[in-house]
Amino acid sequence: MKKLADRYEVYKCEICGNVVEVIHGGRGQLVCCGQPMKLMEKQREEQGYEKHSPVVEKQKGKILIKIGSIPHPMEEQHFIEMIEAITKDDIVLRKYLNPGEKPIVEFDIPDVDEVREYCSIHGLWSKKL
Ligand SMILES: [Fe+2]
Repeated sequence: MKKLADRYEVYKCEICGNVVEVIHGGRGQLVCCGQPMKLMEKQREEQGYEKHSPVVEKQKGKILIKIGSIPHPMEEQHFIEMIEAITKDDIVLRKYLNPGEKPIVEFDIPDVDEVREYCSIHGLWSKKL
């Protein structure tokens, strides 16, 4: 039987706001507050003023990630909640952020395959390197 959820997928409950990431996909449907959770599609195309697409600079043994080309707001109701880097070997580095902090992170790992970020209003964004 086909899996309904898969590793790395992010789901949101549109009632209470719970957001979860799948570690192991099973055959069941993810449900919260009595209804199916919504799969957060990875977005890549910018619309409007706010910039979400990660800007990535590779340095010696490091990677610097900024959200985005114009710094994204980091306000109480609208901010980048996390930035993560996934390597080709499935190593995941994740930094959680708070309002008022800068939407920038540096990881000591060079071989990154994908960078993702989650905006509290605009959802999940991804950039394949
Ligand atoms: Fe946003």
